[in-house]
Amino acid sequence: AKIKEVEFVKSSARARDCPVDDRPEFAILGRSNVGKSSLINSLVRRKEIALTSKKPGKTQLINHFLVNKSWYLVDLPGYGFAKAPEAAKMDWSSFTKGYFLNRNTLVAVLLLIDASVPPQKIDLDCANWLGRNNIPITFVFTKCDKMKVTKGKRPDENIRDFQEIIRENYKQHPPWIMTSSVTGLGRDELLLHISQLRNY
Ligand code: GTP
Ligand code: MG
Repeated sequence: AKIKEVEFVKSSARARDCPVDDRPEFAILGRSNVGKSSLINSLVRRKEIALTSKKPGKTQLINHFLVNKSWYLVDLPGYGFAKAPEAAKMDWSSFTKGYFLNRNTLVAVLLLIDASVPPQKIDLDCANWLGRNNIPITFVFTKCDKMKVTKGKRPDENIRDFQEIIRENYKQHPPWIMTSSVTGLGRDELLLHISQLRNY
């Protein structure tokens, strides 16, 4: 599960503009600011191949990164950005839904969940929508390094609460991995998971 090279291939504004290719791909999805672009950088050990920001709404297009010339990581715009204008929100759902429903080479969605906050309805809605459309998901909990909480619960407690809700909704709990782009927690586990899904 070693990453030898990574190459930014293309930014696409619509699903039909994505690279025409039969190599398998893994989409990184989650709320704005959950750490999607940071996770990609951490996985491929490149500081800013995917652009990150403290402000939500940084990634606006579908970005394809080719790893070891054999599979893609796909960085997507986040959902649930409260300050986004209504028009942009509508646009998000139509364009990303188009991607999920039409991308035949999509192996699985890595659905990122912020472990530093309690379970969010929008994340559960998203997981349910993917489930209804038979798109395999892996829950990737982010920001697990944030152990200093002043109010609310610790990441491990938030994760437990989230999983409890998921268990009520799924016959089988999807795979899940705890990560941190700051400490590198979960990086090797996630790369191994991806390679197992690719060879499945
Ligand atoms: P959009 O592109 O706006 O949807 O955001 P994104 O999901 O790509 O988030 P991004 O990677 O840009 O990170 C958002 C913020 O969270 C940045 O300030 C990151 O430094 C921070 N962040 C990301 N991952 C982690 C993590 O594992 N731990 C901590 N403590 N902070 C993180
Ligand atoms: Mg981003």
